[in-house]
Amino acid sequence: MKILVTGGAGFIASHLIKRLLEDGHEIVCVDNLNDYYDPEIKLKRLEQFEKQINFEKVDITDFSSLRKIFEKYKFDKIAHLAAQAGVRYSITNPDVYINTNYLGTFNVFELAKIYGVKDAVFASTSSVYGESLEIPFREDSPADRAVSIYAATKRACEIMASSYVRNSDMNITCLRFFTVYGPFGRPDMALFKFTKNILAGEPIDVYNNGEMKRDFTFVSDIVEGFVLALNKPMGFEIINLGHGESVHLLKFIEVLEKKLGRKAEINFMPMQQGDVPQTFADTTKAKEKLDFNAKIGVEEGVSFFVDWFKDYYKI
Ligand SMILES: NC(=O)c1ccc[n+]([C@@H]2O[C@H](COP(=O)([O-])OP(=O)(O)OC[C@H]3O[C@@H](n4cnc5c(N)ncnc54)[C@H](O)[C@@H]3O)[C@@H](O)[C@H]2O)c1
Repeated sequence: MKILVTGGAGFIASHLIKRLLEDGHEIVCVDNLNDYYDPEIKLKRLEQFEKQINFEKVDITDFSSLRKIFEKYKFDKIAHLAAQAGVRYSITNPDVYINTNYLGTFNVFELAKIYGVKDAVFASTSSVYGESLEIPFREDSPADRAVSIYAATKRACEIMASSYVRNSDMNITCLRFFTVYGPFGRPDMALFKFTKNILAGEPIDVYNNGEMKRDFTFVSDIVEGFVLALNKPMGFEIINLGHGESVHLLKFIEVLEKKLGRKAEINFMPMQQGDVPQTFADTTKAKEKLDFNAKIGVEEGVSFFVDWFKDYYKI
């Protein structure tokens, strides 16, 4: 099958491309290679595929350029992961989120409709739950109290997806990812920053005085869930993709310290604007609809990440 992967130079989408190539699909990757974080790592991710994929440097906010890609390739399915990610950056740069996440997603869905691409899977986020008091987070929670513009744009895209499914013959599954980590991870995310600083003997910033819990989900589990969703068009669905365990951040840091064989010097900081103290996925629906079961726990996952980090930076 010919699959469009948006944001293919990104952390999660590059893992997804690897898996889709193994499954024998033809991949067209669209990414604008922006410099929100070092584009070098995006190029390195793409280098893994050499000539196995068609790469198109296109900004999804540019409707006419994106239209040419749809015209040229005639896709069977779409994996839409291009986005401005990051909760904290959205406090100071809300316009980027509105443009890329909301308008960009409109462009992708609208062109899918015009060109008759029936099946799409959209990367949403656990951030849409905000400070939900109902724990673990269930898909039927209203999720209408966004704590950041990032969350607001992702929730708006889910609602937009539901209207595309209602008014066309498209199938769109929105997968709410929970704190994804793993090799080739994002340099702006905690595990990457913690590993870098601990190895350099520098302190790490820990927010909300360490009172944070996250449902850390290893990237291969996310990819598995994504592929299951791509292979099973279901009209409109929203499904949590998480490990299904809420791990205390200080426990996560302990696991990292053990793997690195070094203690972290911790700077305890107040809660950051736009952030939430806890995430925890109810994975019942993912099990029922997709037969999804996360496999990698934090000990193993952190170990895979650190091995990759040391190899990548030749430490
Ligand atoms: N990493 C996580 O923990 C997490 C959690 C929940 C949801 N998500 C979602 O998963 C998806 C992938 O996240 P990631 O962590 O791999 O992030 P990432 O930043 O590594 O990947 C996103 C990619 O999209 C590209 N991109 C951004 N704006 C673009 C534009 N206007 N046009 C074309 N390409 C553009 C970027 O260059 C980047 O390569 C995103 O939609 C994100 O919101 C991630």
